[in-house]
Amino acid sequence: MKTASDIIIEALNGLAPRVALVLGSGLGGLVEAVENAVHVPYSELAGFPESGVSGHAGEVVAGTLGGTPVLLLSGRVHYYEKGDAAAMRPVLEVLKGLGIEKLILTNAAGSLREELPPGSVMLIEDHINFSGTNPLIGEETDGRFVGLTNAYDADLRARIEKAAKDESITIGHGVYMWFSGPSFETPAEIRMARTMGADAVGMSTVPEVILGRFLGLSCAACSVITNFAAGMTGGELSHTETKDMAPIGGKKLQAILTRAIGEMS
Ligand code: HPA
Repeated sequence: MKTASDIIIEALNGLAPRVALVLGSGLGGLVEAVENAVHVPYSELAGFPESGVSGHAGEVVAGTLGGTPVLLLSGRVHYYEKGDAAAMRPVLEVLKGLGIEKLILTNAAGSLREELPPGSVMLIEDHINFSGTNPLIGEETDGRFVGLTNAYDADLRARIEKAAKDESITIGHGVYMWFSGPSFETPAEIRMARTMGADAVGMSTVPEVILGRFLGLSCAACSVITNFAAGMTGGELSHTETKDMAPIGGKKLQAILTRAIGEMS
């Protein structure tokens, strides 16, 4: 039987990408910017998880972005789906084996800051793991004691900042706090998150950054703000709102990442 790597190598058709991009809820639009795209559904890739979250397609897209070879992962698995914080580990291991060095993650998030309204993009500078779990629990090597002082790579962040500036798109910066989900936060939890130093909240990305650092990948991550966090507007939050709002900031993120990745070749 062909391994996931064999199948992705075939799809790459001679390309040797060093960069991979994980697309969050409602951010699949970036797939359309990929040139000479070859699509492989996760269901054809041994070890790849099936994501049950609407708004997540679940496919690998191989091609180029702004001329630079890239692998896109459209659709991720979340901790809240099956209680497995390491659900993305097999996928990230395959990427590492294929020669990927840089991992750029995207997500939809709720904003805690008035000046970061829905539709804006936030470059993640650091995170707070508030989930109570860690994807490296059970890992037996000393590699599990991975340092996270520079979890979000300075060079990748500078490239993303520059690309945003060149595209004349204003981006925010901040700390992303990982809540397990799938329920949204309460207003009290959001007040706590603000006190603790969070600028945005969400249900993904942090386990992938921890696994990415464990595997020696340089990581960067961007949030597309889909809503003000619980209690900030008086309205109720919903996944429908996340999916409807994500493409708005998603368009900005698409322009930023196409340029940033295009300049990496
Ligand atoms: N909270 C958690 N996850 C989210 C939110 C939120 O407000 N918005 C989009 N994903």
